[in-house]
Amino acid sequence: MPTTFRYEDDCLVCDGVALADIARAEGTPAYVYSAAAIERAYTEFDAAFGSYPHRLHYALKANSTLAIASLMRRLAAGVDANSVGEIEVALRAGFAPGDIVFTGVGKRPDEIERAVALGVHAINAESAGEVARIAAAARTGRTKARVSVRINPDVNAGTHPHITTGVRGNKFGVPIEQALALCRDIAFDTSLRLVGLHVHVGSQILEVAPLRRAAEALVALTRALSDAGIAIEHIDVGGGVGIPYDGGRGLPAREYAAAILPVVSPTGLKLLVEPGRVIVAPAGVLLARVVDLKNGGGPAEIAVLDAGMTELIRPALYGAYHRIDAVQRRPGSERQYEIVGPLCETSDSFGNARAMPPLQVGDVLAIRDAGGYGSAMASNYNRRLLAPEILVENGGWRTIRRRQTIEDLLMLESSE
Ligand code: LLP
Repeated sequence: MPTTFRYEDDCLVCDGVALADIARAEGTPAYVYSAAAIERAYTEFDAAFGSYPHRLHYALKANSTLAIASLMRRLAAGVDANSVGEIEVALRAGFAPGDIVFTGVGKRPDEIERAVALGVHAINAESAGEVARIAAAARTGRTKARVSVRINPDVNAGTHPHITTGVRGNKFGVPIEQALALCRDIAFDTSLRLVGLHVHVGSQILEVAPLRRAAEALVALTRALSDAGIAIEHIDVGGGVGIPYDGGRGLPAREYAAAILPVVSPTGLKLLVEPGRVIVAPAGVLLARVVDLKNGGGPAEIAVLDAGMTELIRPALYGAYHRIDAVQRRPGSERQYEIVGPLCETSDSFGNARAMPPLQVGDVLAIRDAGGYGSAMASNYNRRLLAPEILVENGGWRTIRRRQTIEDLLMLESSE
């Protein structure tokens, strides 16, 4: 297995391209992704399900930059869109409506109308009220909407509470005990077609047990449906497979598939999976430059970067750990650094007591595993400009999103 990011003579390279060269040409902060790593992760995840009928619907929310979405289309993925914005990105990347499943806990009327008019593969409905609104849109559009019901199976994914979604009382999905009745209503509504059942119990999950339990809940419901004479087309088990942010083992795709397939295969139904993070996160780094070094009176020297929670919010939002590497390792023994962003928020920190080679102002660091939920969650807080995104492919690299300018930012505003 090739290593995407590795040192060659103390110089960190991405698929043979020196990250220092990219930083010099594009400036910092900047996101860099490896096309080969994305492709490998997709292929490995897909292959894990073997010949069982299935399709990966890549979760665009992890990274929906247009060129990344296009890359997923070239790999023959479908997508999971969580807003009409993500649906429009998918269409522009060349996906057909039939490639798109549309999920989302609060779909606006215009979003429902657009999805119904397009005839997306499935609208994952979140409540009885939403089903009624989808049906009304289908009647108005004189069409039949393909609906799948998102179930809340009351399974605790055991991940960070902010990204746990399948526990009773969470805002997501239809409580499992209400699902059968709702499915019946859909099946008897002439403006709707019940095509599937959907579940997503959380993200960054490293144990198979909760993912298997969620699949079991869907399969049990499928049986109840078929006893009631209601046939569906697919089971969608959502995303959630985590990655080893610490550089360890993670949850290998084949272990995940080996846990899910025995549960789903007796149904014979097509399996949809919505991986996001596992496909893109390990393939990306955020390059940032040290703009100041200071002694804050604590045990570790403080290295202030030109990237912060505006570029990568995961550490501030979830206390998430990301490895940090020097793009060019200086000689000398390692020291402890607290690595922080430039924003006026104490939570704007990438890590305490990180052992790093000696740093100097101007050095570039690579914050690892930032290809998913990195640029996608970036903001303009403090009027900071969105960072460019660079794709390394075939031994070269290209800018897939240029750096935002102050003109771009102010274009939407009037001064009065
Ligand atoms: N499908 C649905 C319906 C989802 O809500 C999600 C993620 C996925 C698939 C993809 O999940 P994944 O395979 O990436 O775990 N911002 C957080 C993650 C939020 C995930 C929300 N839903 C983070 O940075 O960790």
